[in-house]
Amino acid sequence: MNAIEINSLTKVYSSSFNKKQTMALQNFSLNVTEGTIFGLLGPNGAGKTTLIKLLLGIIFPTNGTAKILNYYIHEYKIKSRVGYLPENHKYPSYLKGKEVLDFYGKLSGMSGSSLKIKIDEMLELVNLSKWGKTKIKNYSKGMMQRLGLAQALLNDPDLIFLDEPTDGVDPIGRKEIRDILLNLKQRKKTIFLNSHLLSEVELLTDRVGILNKGKLIREGTVNELTQKKQEYKLSIEGENAEQIIKDFDNRISFVNSGNGYYNLKVSDSVQLNMVLDVLRNNGIIIKEMVQQKDSLEDIFISLIQESEKKELQ
Ligand SMILES: Nc1ncnc2c1ncn2[C@@H]1O[C@H](COP(=O)(O)OP(=O)(O)O)[C@@H](O)[C@H]1O
Ligand SMILES: [Mg+2]
Repeated sequence: MNAIEINSLTKVYSSSFNKKQTMALQNFSLNVTEGTIFGLLGPNGAGKTTLIKLLLGIIFPTNGTAKILNYYIHEYKIKSRVGYLPENHKYPSYLKGKEVLDFYGKLSGMSGSSLKIKIDEMLELVNLSKWGKTKIKNYSKGMMQRLGLAQALLNDPDLIFLDEPTDGVDPIGRKEIRDILLNLKQRKKTIFLNSHLLSEVELLTDRVGILNKGKLIREGTVNELTQKKQEYKLSIEGENAEQIIKDFDNRISFVNSGNGYYNLKVSDSVQLNMVLDVLRNNGIIIKEMVQQKDSLEDIFISLIQESEKKELQ
């Protein structure tokens, strides 16, 4: 089942003050399967926060529809099953960790001993048990984000929206947040996160979307997005491999990259198999063959550049 179904959502911000209009999201469609982690990537201003706010009913779409957990986003009932960690959230710094959670717990209608138990459970989950009685002005950025996560999880939501959860957090703090999110996934929660930190998303998510200027320009698994189509790294044993391939076809690139490794580029799998046959028929032993990948960062940059170019045309 889909936890999120978005159908051609469009959001135009208009200002009555200077008549300026901003197309923040344009015909955005996407499905997110229940129990998975989805990462929405995009440069600043791409429209990521706008999308989360639309799905939460904080702002309203100009056009299009969306459902979360099978309810249309304007149905307020569904909010009790959703958690939200806003971007750059701020709590009053004179409060202690536990007091922040107590305040938010009461806001969502919890009270008494059941709230107390829940707060302790959440502090434990985000590794802040020892810090519950410390004023949050003494918290690091990573601790603040973990407290924010605890707050977003207080009502035991099935679907959790996190807006830039690891922004400004150091590598150890980021790892802690990742571990918490993976733990939540094991508990069958659906997580939708926005990030401009590509390496984070690469490590965490089942599927990613790349958003630029309000348009979804690509969607898929990290693997699908980063696979180079027909480029392979081969480890081989044998003499004259380069010469054998050179004589064969000038559309094939076969370059010695040292230590017995070769980089092979072909145009399709038929050609790949021909190369392998020729090598083997000439007594060359293929010890290893790995399809090459781009990093998510390479893909991200080239997709953004491509979409900007298209816009200029
Ligand atoms: N309340 C608003 N009024 C007018 N324009 C806005 C408002 N919020 C965001 N925008 C504009 O919409 C675009 C998308 O913003 P946002 O969703 O915050 O992007 P992101 O989260 O990807 O950085 C930007 O051009 C931003 O300036
Ligand atoms: Mg944002």
